[in-house]
This record gives sequence, C-alpha cells and structure tokens, in this order.
Amino acid sequence: MEACESIPYEKVECIANVIKPKLKAMPKLGVICGSGLGGLADMVTDKVCFPYSELPDFPVSTVAGHKGQFVAGHIGGKYVIVMQGRLHAYEGYSMAKATVPVRVMKLLGVETLIVTNAAGGLNQSYNVGDFMIIKDQINFPGFVGINPLKGPNDERFGPRFPSVSKAYNLEYRKLARQIAEELGYSQYLREGVYCSLGGPTYETVTECLFLRNAGADAVGMSTCPEVIVAAHASMKVFGLSLITNKSVMEYDSEKAANHEEVLETGKKQACLLLKFISTIITKMNV
Ligand code: HPA
Repeated sequence: MEACESIPYEKVECIANVIKPKLKAMPKLGVICGSGLGGLADMVTDKVCFPYSELPDFPVSTVAGHKGQFVAGHIGGKYVIVMQGRLHAYEGYSMAKATVPVRVMKLLGVETLIVTNAAGGLNQSYNVGDFMIIKDQINFPGFVGINPLKGPNDERFGPRFPSVSKAYNLEYRKLARQIAEELGYSQYLREGVYCSLGGPTYETVTECLFLRNAGADAVGMSTCPEVIVAAHASMKVFGLSLITNKSVMEYDSEKAANHEEVLETGKKQACLLLKFISTIITKMNV
C-alpha cells in the first residue's frame, strides 16, 4: 500500500501563485490531455506556457506522448488552462502527488475540468477510433485503499467524505451527445464506464474479462484519481476517452496492447477529436 502523502494546501498555493500573475484572465475551464492528445494544447491561441520543471516542487511527466507543461490561453473563445502531459501513479508518484495539478487549477479559478484519455475498449462493440463519453468510473486502486484523498483532509479543498457518484456532469454529457450529432460523429460516439488500473502493464486477458463483467467499457491508467480530486473540490467534470485499441479478451489471441498503437490511433483521430473538444468548449456554459 502506498504511503499517505497528502500535499499541504500551502504548497499547492505556492505553485498557483507562480502561474497566476502571468495569466491574462482567470481560467474557469481546465483541460487534461491524454496520451497522444497533447494537440489540444497546440490549439490554444495567445498562449503562455508553464513547463512543470519550472514550477516549485511540481512533479514532471516522464512518458512519451506527454509533454509536461501547463498552457494557458484561448480555445473556442474561452480562456482555458491545459495540462499538456499528465502525471500517472505508475511513474512513481503517489496519487496525491499525481493529482496536485487539479488542485492548482482549482486555485487558479477552474470550475469545470475536461479530462481526456486513451483507453482500451473492453466493450467488444467498440471500435478503435471511437470516442467514449465517460458516464461513470471505477477507480480500481481504491478497492485496496489507494485513493488520492487518503490522509488528513484539508477542508479548504473539500469535505472528508465526498460523493463521487455524480462526478461526470449530466448536462455536459447531453451537450456532447448533441454536438457529436451536429458534427456527424454519431458513428464514433459511445457513452460508457471508464476503469483505471495502476499500470504500467497492460491488462491480462483474465483482467479484461473481469473488468468487463464488473461493468467497465474502457480501461486505462489515469483519469479516475484526477476526477476524484476534482469532484472533492466541487468542480464539474466532462470526460472523454479515445478508444485506441481493443482489449484482448481471448486467451489464444496473437494480439497484445502496446503504446505505439495507442499513440498511432491518437494521431489518426486527433483532428476529429480536437474539433469535438473545441466545439464542446465553445458551447459549454462556463
Ligand atoms: N489498457 C490500459 N491503458 C490503456 C490501454 C489499455 O488497453 N489503451 C490505452 N491506454
């Protein structure tokens, strides 16, 4: 079990205080880019960048496909702050540390968080390249006591026992369905349950079968901890998974998940995905 490592409010405040004076407006909207989806940050205009390595005590992301900076500026007429490169527990960070950026965004004024990720499709009706609106999640490490909120609770962030059962905002999910239809994306659109494991290994066949039976439609190595921290801080969340590979559910299959395929699918669908997210941002009531 990981050590209890809650990060003091003052440390988070210190990071936010480095960023705040350089922003041109208050970002009410935060975006976290998943593997291979950093192109979202490239859409930002009028941008100011904050490399993680230049922020005090800030964890740096070490994964290919994750750049490692905050980018603030405009997308779709809104002033946003984008995490180009997220932090994962498998890089060696406690969940508390990996989710510090969400709290930094909260202190900068973010009220709505958009989380994106690359995920394996457990639901066998899903195709590679599909977009899945996340309607709920399974934070699998939570079953064994690994939770970003473990440790002393600071009420300035949120309550000791928060509910996360409605973390994925229904209005945003409806908006995304409507926009997908308008953009002609209906054939790619799914809505389902995302499950995160600790990684960095991809799942075994039996693990995939187990997760599917437990009600998950897609699996990845991120997002759930960030969404827990966001919900704790009363942020509204919209989540979108790009299905980058089909989970292997047959023991004798020759296929296996791999990071290259994940990045490749990200590249292929990037254009459509960027259009989708930027339209959602434009039409979000924030
Ligand atoms: N499993 C876990 N994480 C992932 C996958 C997967 O199949 N695809 C993209 N991220």
